[in-house]
Amino acid sequence: MPRYDYNIIFVVNILFAAIICSICSTSLKIGETCSMDDNQCDDGLRCGTCSASGNTRPRCTRIQPINPTSKVNGLPFNRYTWLTTHNSFALSGSKLPNGLPVLGPANQEDDVTSQLQNGVRGLMLDMYDFNDDIWMCHSFGGICYNITAYQPAITVLREIQKFLEENPTEIITIFIEDYVTSQNGLTKVFNESGLIRYMFPSYRMPKEGAEWPLITDMVTRNQRLVVFTSKSSKEASEGFAYEWTYVVENQYGNDGKIAGSCPNRSESSAMNTTTRSLVLQNYFSTNPNVTGACIDNSASLIEMMNTCQQAAGGRWPNYIAVDFYQRSDGGGAPEAVDVANGNKTCGCPNIAYCRVNATFGSCDIPVLSPPPPAQLPPDEPIGGFGDGFLISAAIRRQWSYGAFFSALLLLPL
Ligand SMILES: *[C@@H]1O[C@H](CO)[C@@H](O)[C@H](O)[C@H]1NC(C)=O
Ligand SMILES: *[C@@H]1O[C@H](CO)[C@@H](O)[C@H](O)[C@H]1NC(C)=O
Ligand SMILES: *[C@@H]1O[C@H](CO)[C@@H](O)[C@H](O)[C@H]1NC(C)=O
Ligand SMILES: *[C@@H]1O[C@H](CO)[C@@H](O)[C@H](O)[C@H]1NC(C)=O
Ligand SMILES: *[C@@H]1O[C@H](CO)[C@@H](O)[C@H](O)[C@H]1NC(C)=O
Ligand SMILES: *[C@@H]1O[C@H](CO)[C@@H](O)[C@H](O)[C@H]1NC(C)=O
Ligand SMILES: *[C@@H]1O[C@H](CO)[C@@H](O)[C@H](O)[C@H]1NC(C)=O
Repeated sequence: MPRYDYNIIFVVNILFAAIICSICSTSLKIGETCSMDDNQCDDGLRCGTCSASGNTRPRCTRIQPINPTSKVNGLPFNRYTWLTTHNSFALSGSKLPNGLPVLGPANQEDDVTSQLQNGVRGLMLDMYDFNDDIWMCHSFGGICYNITAYQPAITVLREIQKFLEENPTEIITIFIEDYVTSQNGLTKVFNESGLIRYMFPSYRMPKEGAEWPLITDMVTRNQRLVVFTSKSSKEASEGFAYEWTYVVENQYGNDGKIAGSCPNRSESSAMNTTTRSLVLQNYFSTNPNVTGACIDNSASLIEMMNTCQQAAGGRWPNYIAVDFYQRSDGGGAPEAVDVANGNKTCGCPNIAYCRVNATFGSCDIPVLSPPPPAQLPPDEPIGGFGDGFLISAAIRRQWSYGAFFSALLLLPL
């Protein structure tokens, strides 16, 4: 058996540990190459590709907007912009009691608790009478069928209740697409979930386009849940605010994605109707499309936001509603929200550039370096399992160095 210089083994050991640690403790920033296998991206980011637009290199992409109140607190509620999920309850992989998939397209990939933790503050929920209860459902003709029923409303409402309880300064808005006709159906389920005591009363909502109360006031009074229904009768009968008295919305689906135009949806007043203090921007395809969503949620979303801002009489949206909110080719819907919040709350092109408690328009704008290439170099083999699950070539290289040093270490044994 040959003699080994144990000093060399020691040095190799240190090197090996250093290399392992460069992998184990990686904390990757937005745009950096990542591996889909383990979560190395910084908080608020997720490793993803957008192969539909040719971005095949897995990179850290944003899934969380900046909380605007961390920069500018205490403005009226209508001076902020909130990330909103379209059909927040329709999750991919949802199963019926018999184990078959729910019939109907999914719009999101993580549950409402996770959405809220990622900074989603607007939820679009379709509610139906079903099974002597209220359910979240997709429908044909306003009726919920057992094969299109996602989950009982109480399940989702309890998630929201828990989040409000645990986060006493956060404010959430629910938009109900309301098919409930049972007597006091909404009241019962909101009461049973414990949400009723957080509700911002409809009589305090500004009716003629005035400013909303300050968010600090809403927090102090614990009126941190804003709820709108699509049924006009419920404001008088149950106290649920009729959305179209308070909000304008642009057209949803493919008709709302025509570049350069931002028409109102049919239920809404014209976008520039200033007697409605809140503006909601829809931006998603008619048929929810998980591979296409990363395109919708990127540059074209911000372009449409500019178009809608003009159509709405110079008002930035308060809500930006998207499908698959975590999908993008980089900044995504969180970036759009940050741009709107920067412009609205502090007069900067992005809320990231706002200084805490500074005067309107004083901004710290960073010098940008050019973005890394979108595509993998053609000579790199692509390992992986399907779209959006590519293993980064750089990481694989690191691992092969690791394997090389492991082999060195094993030699003496
Ligand atoms: C700004 O200043 C006020 C006191 O004037 C303080 O209460 C608040 O927390 C500060 N920060 C933000 C983000 O507004
Ligand atoms: C749905 O209802 C039909 C009868 O109306 C029943 O045959 C079927 O098994 C139900 N499916 C589920 C998933 O409950
Ligand atoms: C609300 O819930 C409480 C129990 O949590 C119950 O006692 C009360 O009757 C409910 N009210 C309505 C209107 O459903
Ligand atoms: C809103 O849009 C619809 C078309 O979807 C149109 O018929 C309606 O007149 C519009 N309302 C206003 C006030 O422009
Ligand atoms: C509001 O928008 C409509 C188009 O939807 C336009 O005809 C009208 O002139 C605008 N009103 C104002 C005050 O800008
Ligand atoms: C989904 O979006 C991608 C990219 O825009 C597109 O190529 C594809 O045809 C879409 N699929 C469906 C089913 O609409
Ligand atoms: C707000 O957005 C508009 C339109 O994109 C832009 O012209 C303006 O410079 C922005 N304002 C600030 C302060 O960034």
